[in-house]
Parts: sequence; C-alpha cells; structure tokens
Amino acid sequence: MKSGSKREMMIGGPWTGLIRLAVTDSTNSRAMELAERGAPHGTVVVADAQTGGRGRLGRRWISPPGRNIYVSVLLRPDLPNAEAPRLSLVAGIALADATEGEDVPGSLKWPNDLYLGERKAGGILAEMASGGDRVRHVVIGVGINVNLGEDEIPEEIRGKATSLRIHAGREFPREALLASFLGAFGRRYVEFLAGGFAAIRPAWDRRDFLRGRRVLVRGPGWEAWGVARGVDGNGAFLFRRDGSGADEPLHSGEIVAFETA
Ligand code: BTN
Repeated sequence: MKSGSKREMMIGGPWTGLIRLAVTDSTNSRAMELAERGAPHGTVVVADAQTGGRGRLGRRWISPPGRNIYVSVLLRPDLPNAEAPRLSLVAGIALADATEGEDVPGSLKWPNDLYLGERKAGGILAEMASGGDRVRHVVIGVGINVNLGEDEIPEEIRGKATSLRIHAGREFPREALLASFLGAFGRRYVEFLAGGFAAIRPAWDRRDFLRGRRVLVRGPGWEAWGVARGVDGNGAFLFRRDGSGADEPLHSGEIVAFETA
C-alpha cells in the first residue's frame, strides 16, 4: 500500500473516490468528518497506519503501519435507521468473499467479525448519523489483519486474534486484497439494496461461525446462555435461549462467550 501521500482517484463499483492517508488516528473518524462536510456517497478512506484505531464497544484496534488494511466507506443509503446495522453484515460477507478469493476461507461471527479457524482476523465498526427516522450517512470501517506477525499481537488478545499470514503461513498483497474487498462490497451492496439481506443470506449461512454453538449473549440489562441458530432474512441473530423452545431474533446484543469447535 503506497503511503505518504493523500490523493484521490476513481475506483470501480459504486465507489466514487479513494482518499489515501499514510497515517491518521482513525479512518472512521476521517470518513465521518468528510460525511459531515458533504462528501459523496461512495467515498473511501484508507490509511497505512492508525494511531487511534477504534473497535466496537470502545475497544482499540491494533493498527501498525505496513501490515494490515484499515478502510472506511461512506454510504448514503435511503434506508430507515433500523435497517442500517445490516450494512455491516453486508461488509462482513464482502470481507469473507475477498479472503476466499485469496484461497483463505473465513467464517463470520455475528454481527461483525471475520474468523480464520477459531481466531479473529477482521472486524467492522459501523457508525451512523440519522435525520429523523432515516439514515443520513453510515461509515463502515473495516480492519483486516493481513500480514501481522504473531509477535505483534498484544498479549491480552494473543491466541484470540490472528492474521491471514499467521493462518496461511504466507504473505498477502494488501493492495490486491483491498481492491478485492471493495469490489465485493460494491457487488454485495447492490444485491442488498435490490433484495434485502435475504438476497445475500446464503453467503452468510455457509460461513456462519456460531451456528449450532452454545453462546453467552448479553443484551441491555441481561445475559443468557443458549444456542446460536443462525441469522434470519433481516440479519437478526437467532438465539434459542436455554429452557426455551423457540428462536428469538436479536437485532442487537453481544456474543460475550462461545463454545469452541
Ligand atoms: C471490531 O472488531 O471491534 C471493529 C474493528 C474495526 C476496525 C476498523 S480499522 C478501519 C476503521 N477505523 C477505525 O478506527 N476502526 C475501523
């Protein structure tokens, strides 16, 4: 990935412009700022390094230079707010499409994680601004651990995090992987707009990391064990709570623990 410059160029698919940064605190923060200043739908921000990479739930995202992909895509879909979280599932499918294109099949842990084997290799942070009950803009930020070495993974997540390189035992071309992810995201986004999440659900189903596993789920003010039963046509997580005979569709919530395969 070229660094040291900030430039824009036309890229394929529905993406309208690419802004490359050598280093920034967070590509999501840059893209949210650009969105507020009127940047068009399809603006993409990529950085070689982040000094304040952000994960979900206030966590930090390890973002050293020269190793990984840190990219944020600005979308201005005509959607009700409630449907916006589905966009990060769409991005997850595209992420798995991209690694599969490199002969590294991954799986998807609802709602936002790419797994290689039993370890996390990629994550998605979606941030939204709304106008009334409809989306004004959404930034989908994607971090992919590409060529990160085992020794670069902080101790607290060692054994839980991985990279394509650690998993496959070879280096990957970041530029090609980025192009492949953006291409796949463009295609999946168009499919999603045309047919809803149901149209691309098979692409999630065949990579579902949690389906059939025992999981501990945390919602607002509750925690419960049960079994993951897949996702529904709206992208909701289907949870069969212990002691219950029915699947419960969860639109938000956190999987805080899961049984390993
Ligand atoms: C997670 O799994 O917690 C989500 C991680 C998202 C990381 C990406 S890297 C590019 C973009 N910029 C950020 O600050 N975060 C996202």
